[in-house]
Amino acid sequence: MNIPPFTLERYFAKHEFSAKYLLSSSDCESLSLTEMLEMASPEMRKTFFDLKLGYTESMGHPQLRAEAAKLHHGLNAENLLIAAPEEAIFIFMNALLEPGDHVISTFPGYQSLYEIARAGGCQISTWEPDEAAEWHFDLARLAELIRPETKLVVVNFPHNPTGYIPSQKEFADLINLLREKGIYLLSDEMYRYLEIEAGATLPSACEAYEKAFSLFGMSKTFGLPGLRIGWIATQDAATLAKMLQLKDYTTICSSAPSEILSIIALQNKDAIIEMQNARLARNFAILDEFMAARPNRFALNRPRGGSICFPRILGVENTLEFADTLVAEAGIMIAPSHVFDYGHKHFRLGFGRENFGEVLGLFGEYVDTIS
Ligand SMILES: Cc1ncc(COP(=O)(O)O)c(C=O)c1O
Repeated sequence: MNIPPFTLERYFAKHEFSAKYLLSSSDCESLSLTEMLEMASPEMRKTFFDLKLGYTESMGHPQLRAEAAKLHHGLNAENLLIAAPEEAIFIFMNALLEPGDHVISTFPGYQSLYEIARAGGCQISTWEPDEAAEWHFDLARLAELIRPETKLVVVNFPHNPTGYIPSQKEFADLINLLREKGIYLLSDEMYRYLEIEAGATLPSACEAYEKAFSLFGMSKTFGLPGLRIGWIATQDAATLAKMLQLKDYTTICSSAPSEILSIIALQNKDAIIEMQNARLARNFAILDEFMAARPNRFALNRPRGGSICFPRILGVENTLEFADTLVAEAGIMIAPSHVFDYGHKHFRLGFGRENFGEVLGLFGEYVDTIS
């Protein structure tokens, strides 16, 4: 397979473990192993310490699938395949798509959501938001992009990198449109439950549509990306079976300790999600104040959810050069819009980390000195 480098991942690989301060991470603050085991029931703690480190079931630990299925109303363990989120995208695309298929994806976005399909010989169209309308993704525009050979639409809400979420009605209309045309839907829901406004949480697409595949996992909302656990939930048993066959060529099965820790996290989901949202709300207030103090430097469409947003920087020609200088001079890493193949005017800010206020303060000092 001939696939171009994953620009964002390569940029992170260069700076994530050497920059002093990270200001673009998309995951919420991670929990430690100690914290996880403290919140585990005595039974699960025993399960963890007695665990034999053998291979596990390819579909995923049955208890993990059952706990995860509770996040997708009406679906059960049989409707889920466990895999690392990125792996799940990879095997899903390979299971569903054929060369020549037409795929429409929200853009800018997480590169694998369209690149894997392109590398597999599919035609790609991008569904792009309107920055002047608060990053609105217009359904009429999506309808125009649909062709007779369109097989799959890929969406990601809350959206990485803008934090956009459509209204409940728009999301229902989107599903109705796809159902009318018989088009599959991959709904990347990695930032679900991080909605800023109450009532903005969309239904998981797999609940609402029989041709939908919902991607979720432990990485972003739970702040546990090091577990490398996620899943695809769907009513489409045939495609799920094909995905399972492909998983034999990627990881075969997931990591045994990660599965147990994910069960523990899911058993404590309300507490973890509440804790992450409390931190996000605190950081969001700091961000609001920061932006309000600098109207001539930044233009930000406030995110509706997730842990990231996508400000435009004013008076800077090229955010890639700006980001490279910033990390070299001040040790602060941001993700320039170049890594999303989206020009040079924006950058991604992540506000899910504990030290966000401190790092944003340092970033403010830096930008206030440039002309
Ligand atoms: C929208 C989106 N989907 C999928 C992923 C992949 O998640 P993971 O890195 O845990 O495999 C990411 C990670 O950044 C993401 O932002």
